[in-house]
Amino acid sequence: MTRFNPVTPRVIERLKGIVGEEHVLTSPEDLARYGLDEIEERYRSLPEVVVKPRSPEEIAAIMRLANQERVPVTPRGAGTGLSGGAIPICGGIVISLERMNEILEIDPDNMMVTVEPGVVLADMMRAVEAHGLFYPVDVSTLESCHVGGNVAENAGGARAVKYGITGHWVYGLEMVTPTGEIVRLGGKRIKDVTGYNLVQLVVGSEGTLGIITKITFRLTVKPKYVLDLLIPFDSLKDAVAQVLGLLREEQGLSAIEFMDSLSIRAAEKYLNLTLPYDDCEAHLLIQVDGMEEEGVWQAAERVYKRLMEAGAKEVFVADNRITREKLWRARRNIAEALKALNSYVSVEDIVVPRSEIPEMARRLRELSRAHGLEVPLYGHIGDGNLHPTPVSGGRDEETWARDLAAFLSDMFKAVKELGGNITAEHGIGFKRVKYLPLVMDEVEIKLMEAIKKAWDPNGILNPGKIFPAEGTCSS
Ligand code: LAC
Ligand code: ZN
Repeated sequence: MTRFNPVTPRVIERLKGIVGEEHVLTSPEDLARYGLDEIEERYRSLPEVVVKPRSPEEIAAIMRLANQERVPVTPRGAGTGLSGGAIPICGGIVISLERMNEILEIDPDNMMVTVEPGVVLADMMRAVEAHGLFYPVDVSTLESCHVGGNVAENAGGARAVKYGITGHWVYGLEMVTPTGEIVRLGGKRIKDVTGYNLVQLVVGSEGTLGIITKITFRLTVKPKYVLDLLIPFDSLKDAVAQVLGLLREEQGLSAIEFMDSLSIRAAEKYLNLTLPYDDCEAHLLIQVDGMEEEGVWQAAERVYKRLMEAGAKEVFVADNRITREKLWRARRNIAEALKALNSYVSVEDIVVPRSEIPEMARRLRELSRAHGLEVPLYGHIGDGNLHPTPVSGGRDEETWARDLAAFLSDMFKAVKELGGNITAEHGIGFKRVKYLPLVMDEVEIKLMEAIKKAWDPNGILNPGKIFPAEGTCSS
């Protein structure tokens, strides 16, 4: 039995009636552009039509139509996701939120900002900083990703170690339900336990429970002083071993990032720049921020002392914008670099309890050797969140797919054994659906499925994502 109907010319006419003819795309080139996010090419799947609405009312009308016609709908931000969340794997309609890109209100008294989902993250950060306010969630793709996608995926990033992840800052949402109603959840209230916390249910629901049309983020005070430290180590083991001590003894560190030599070299080559001691096995990149200059420097000195005693080669301090940007540009571009320099790569996103970081790093090296796969390693080590990124080397597509599957299966088993999980910030999407039952209890999956069914009885919103039983378009 077919679960969904095709998008007919009549449906396209009705979509044009809702959003205007110029905002409905059907050419093969346009459809191809909306058929992939930042995961591997083999996951590409084309929509039948792309619509670009401008208001929640238009989105509500599209959702009502899609329910009547039993046509699947996939919401899309900037397409920078890394799990296939925005890929329309059952075809149907892609709703692109790109035209809904206004910063609606900066409210300094409440320290909140309200935006539409298609605002680029860095634009929002700069806008609030002009008011002395600060939105701290620092995602690698900040110059291109949309805040709506950040909320849908509950993006994490580099400063979570001090400031938490996207969800910690989301206080209010407006969204269109899968059945086409507009609803406001939460608001500018710091404390509010009135009913279930639906805001945080929608955060990270990967576009399966609603289409976000407005977001109210809480903001904090912009730190006055920021330093970045780049610390090369001859031994990866020594670098990794320092993380727990740093976390226990310092509360001002706003990022503790890790890059191994394969990752650094890829970034250098891709960006055509050099970093100091790029022959070292591993680098830590640590950020210190605060309101007092002296306090920030003192913390940096303590970090310096500790890490030099622990075998660091050197501690480079970046206290001006240009050097800081160079370091972060390298760090942010590792995934892009690995993709550009290899035929096939798989950007992974594991997380383990922080006490298990050294053991996980050790096992990754062991697995890489055992499977004969090169696995550059980098990530947000202060959160226990690593991005091992196996690369194909000289493998053809078929051999790559087979070897990768074997490696991932062993890696996820190790992650589970250490009390970790298969994704920390990129999401299940489509890419990790088959691994969910490996790590999640059946009862928990059933509870999630029951929520999905209650909100989206026809299962038309972003089908095939998260849920193992929903993996096909026709069941
Ligand atoms: C990063 C992305 C891959 O940390 O999450 O660069
Ligand atoms: Zn990351």
